[in-house]
Amino acid sequence: MSKDLMGKKALVTGGTKGIGEAIVERLAAAGARVVTTARSMPYGGIPDHVERFVAADLSTQAGTDSVAEATLETLGGIDIVVHNAGRTDATAGVATSFDEEDWQRALALNLLAPVRLDRRLVPVMSGQGSGSVVHVTSIARTLPRSAPMPYAAAKAALNNYSKGLAAETAPAGVRVNRVLPGFIETTGVEHLLDDTAAAMGTDRNGARQAIMAALGGIPMGRTGRPAEVAELIAFLVSDRASWITGAEYVIDGGTVPTV
Ligand SMILES: NC(=O)c1ccc[n+]([C@@H]2O[C@H](COP(=O)([O-])OP(=O)(O)OC[C@H]3O[C@@H](n4cnc5c(N)ncnc54)[C@H](OP(=O)(O)O)[C@@H]3O)[C@@H](O)[C@H]2O)c1
Repeated sequence: MSKDLMGKKALVTGGTKGIGEAIVERLAAAGARVVTTARSMPYGGIPDHVERFVAADLSTQAGTDSVAEATLETLGGIDIVVHNAGRTDATAGVATSFDEEDWQRALALNLLAPVRLDRRLVPVMSGQGSGSVVHVTSIARTLPRSAPMPYAAAKAALNNYSKGLAAETAPAGVRVNRVLPGFIETTGVEHLLDDTAAAMGTDRNGARQAIMAALGGIPMGRTGRPAEVAELIAFLVSDRASWITGAEYVIDGGTVPTV
């Protein structure tokens, strides 16, 4: 594997499971020094390729502040930020069924956490004249009814913010892009599969097929893998993507049916 990120200082949020774990592994394999964060330490401990793990709840400002400071202290600067942490814990329902708490929780983690971290870290990148930021959003931004509405709306807002930030930071040499995964089988999705299977009286495969059908089908005929998303992100944060900024990359096996 090319060591094209050798010595680059990277923060990947939510890097202990699923897509984030794969991103951490991929960036480290390319030579990056990686700090990651999650609320809890993984059961198996932190892999050797992680330079520092910071336990924090990113849905609070205290959490994002502590992660930003620990990252700068550990790495002595910052070149790459991948905002991967995100989730929904609201169950499906019509838009008006979500209460104040559902909306606050969805916005705090999926929108405000990246905004708060960027507020601290992007000026460091601008000051040095280089850097790369990736916001992991979701195809739910174009398919609002494919996920609980607070989550879909928070991800859509993150897309909008990301595009605006990209235009502002480009003159300073900081690139900002967004990646929209489709149905990727991760730790988070395993819980969804189990809940769906229990509700439908079927097994995980039955639940998987039902979710794929609810999305309108996946033309490539299968769900995605975390490593496939990590590969795209490793490209975007590298110098191979040196003229790409403000761009949106859908990685969904063809799920989104529109242009
Ligand atoms: N999987 C999909 O099909 C899919 C589709 C579209 C978009 N996405 C997006 O892709 C990203 C990764 O999804 P995933 O499926 O890989 O998720 P996942 O398997 O549930 O992993 C989420 C990671 O984020 C951490 N995390 C969750 N809440 C946190 C909080 N409040 N503070 C700090 N860390 C937190 C988790 O660790 P702790 O639980 O220990 O905090 C974990 O490391 C998310 O932004 C998600 O919205 C995923």
